[in-house]
This record gives sequence, structure tokens and C-alpha cells, in this order.
Amino acid sequence: MDYKALKAKFDRLFGEGDVRVFAAPGRVNLIGEHIDYNGGKVFPAALEMKNVVLCRVRPDRKMRIAADDLSIIAEGDLDHLEEKKGKDWGAYQLGVCDELQKAGYPLVGCDMLFWGNVPFGSGLSSSASIEVATAIAMATLGLEAAGKEAVIDLVEMAVIGQKAENNFVGVNCGIMDQFASAMGKKDMAILLDCNTLDYELVPMDMTGYSIVIGNTKKKRGLADSKYNERRAECDVAMECLKKVFPDLDAMCSLTPEQFEAHKDIYPTGIIRNRAEHSVYENARVLKAVELLKKGDLLGFGQLLNASHKSLKELYEVTGPELDAMAETAQKTEGCIGSRMTGAGFGGCTVSIVKNECVDSFIETVGKKYTELTGLVPEFYVSGAGDGAMELTDL
Ligand code: GLA
Repeated sequence: MDYKALKAKFDRLFGEGDVRVFAAPGRVNLIGEHIDYNGGKVFPAALEMKNVVLCRVRPDRKMRIAADDLSIIAEGDLDHLEEKKGKDWGAYQLGVCDELQKAGYPLVGCDMLFWGNVPFGSGLSSSASIEVATAIAMATLGLEAAGKEAVIDLVEMAVIGQKAENNFVGVNCGIMDQFASAMGKKDMAILLDCNTLDYELVPMDMTGYSIVIGNTKKKRGLADSKYNERRAECDVAMECLKKVFPDLDAMCSLTPEQFEAHKDIYPTGIIRNRAEHSVYENARVLKAVELLKKGDLLGFGQLLNASHKSLKELYEVTGPELDAMAETAQKTEGCIGSRMTGAGFGGCTVSIVKNECVDSFIETVGKKYTELTGLVPEFYVSGAGDGAMELTDL
């Protein structure tokens, strides 16, 4: 990030003066896909790639939201936020303001300029990082303006971000992305229980191996509607399960044994498949974390492969591009596991690759992927980074 240039742009757009700077990262999910909204355990890590916002409070209740790479400036009024609902630039931030106000935060109008290097629409939670950065910025500035001490509860900020996306943007996402963005820690992955929000930081101890993220460059076109469709299918599965297990609090609380003993309760094979993925993916997460803690990276990698297969065959959220990339990666020298990460239908894969093979891996998988799909992918080698924070050292 070229902070000087950004600050100059802010001054040009909004006038000169001091700014405050807040940041929140994207995330990669190592394993535990499409189960956060079913009360499952997930295992994401915050990335080093992030979204940053420069901001300055205004004397009124107006919001102006600009981005380094966009020519439009979204506007909003903290007293009339509802009219800005949707997916346009600015809606994510205004949705966060709406949820903060509903939660009782005193807000003040603000001019904001965003910069980010989390590739957009690629399954690395660019939107969650914008939401979380906005939440900590607006909550901090609002509390300070009201003369209160700005002690920010990062878990609450994650929940606010999720609610904004659910209620304002219209994507029924779970809590994983915002939680990872808010709560990430350098060199750590987060084992998060999405039912209780209990979490454990687990060292990403991968001596000799790197995490390689592959961007299929396939935009997640229909992703949002398909995403909401999967959630609705899981609700149907849950209704069936409730008849057998009246006390079941979430689909992922079901054990594989319980699932196997009641396979005929679902109206269709598709609904059963969705439930099967959820239950076994949750079990894979627990196993994966156990193996990682023991240093059994090969075993960990195999669970990544199994997760991809389940997302492809049972949950049906991969698509030709993600399959081409993950399945090529799985067969490439030095790679011990590869899967799609995030919502699917395009976006990114995550692979674990021997350090000395990273360059050849990127070359081989990139070439083969282009042959298979006609798309030119991008690769990122990223460690786990810190979660949301104010940047003061610029
Ligand atoms: C998106 C959502 C998350 C999660 C993943 C799939 O990233 O925002 O809540 O459901 O998809 O695991």
C-alpha cells in the first residue's frame, strides 16, 4: 500500500486534514466449508492481504465512501440508510452502519477512502474485510465523538458485519469470514465453533510446506443465489432431522453415526447429500486439526482432498474451473492436498505444497488449468496474518 498516495487522494476528494486508518484482512478457509451456517466447526486463517480504510469524521450525519480504484463515491445518510440496501458499492459499509446503530452504537458521519489487495469476488472474503474494517472504524469514531471510551469487541464487530451482509446486502452468509477477518492472528489458524462462537487459535505449523492459493479467475456469477439455495436446502434437511432428534440444535451437531442410522428421512437424495456433506465435513475439521497438531501434514492434506470431493459431489458448489484447478493440483508434484475455499462456484483453491516445489507447482498447475479452461489463473503464497486493527504507524 502506498499510504502517501492514498492520503493525497483522500485530501483531494474530501479536503486536507488528519485521518484515521483501520484495516481488516481477507481470509482463507483451510477446511470446514459450507458448514458455518449449520453450526459446524470451521478452520480459517486471516490473510496478509487486506482492506484498509482512511476516514475522517464529519460534522453531520452524511457518509461518503470512495475507493482507490473506483471513480464513483457512494453517499448515504445515517438517518436514512434503508434506501441504500443492495449490492452496489457502499452498501456493505452502509449496512454495517445500520447494524451498528441497531446495536446501540452512537455514529457520526464520515468520509471514507478504501484501498485493498484482497482480490474481489474470489472467495477470499474481500467483502467481509470491508465490513469488518468499516465496523471497527465507525464504532471507534462514533464512541469517541460521543465522549466514550472506544473499547471494541471484535467478535461483536464480526457479528455486525455478518448481519449487514444478511440484512442489507441480501446474502445469507454465516459468521466464518467476518470472524476470521476480525479475530485472525499472525501464523495462526482459528478453529471456530460456529454454534457457540467458541474458538481456539492453532499454530499453522507447516514446516517445509507453504499454503498456495490459486485464483481460478472465474467470477462467482450466480454464487449468491446458489448460496442462498444451499442454505434453504439445509433448512429442509434440518426440519427432517428435528422430527427424529427434537433437541438437535444444529445440523453439524449430528454425528456421522446418527446420520448413517437415519438416511431415509429426507424428501430427496439431494437434500440427503447436503446433510451428508455437512455432517462429514464437520468431522473432517476435527480430524484435520488433530492431525495438524500432531504434525501429520500428509493426513491433513488428504482431508483437504476429501473435502473437495464432497463439495463437488454431495454439495455441488465447485464447478468445472475449481475442479480443474484442485484436481490438477492434487496430482502435481509436491502438493499434499488441495481444495476449493470459500463459497465456491469460482473463486479460489487452497493447496499445501512442499516449499521447494512451490514454483514448479504454480507453473504446472497454471499451464494445465489454462489448457483445461482457457482462463489465466493467479497464485498467492500467503501466510496467516493479523486480524482487524487500527493502523497508527504510517
Ligand atoms: C462464504 C460465506 C461463509 C461460508 C463460506 C462457505 O464465504 O460468507 O459464511 O458459508 O462461504 O464455507
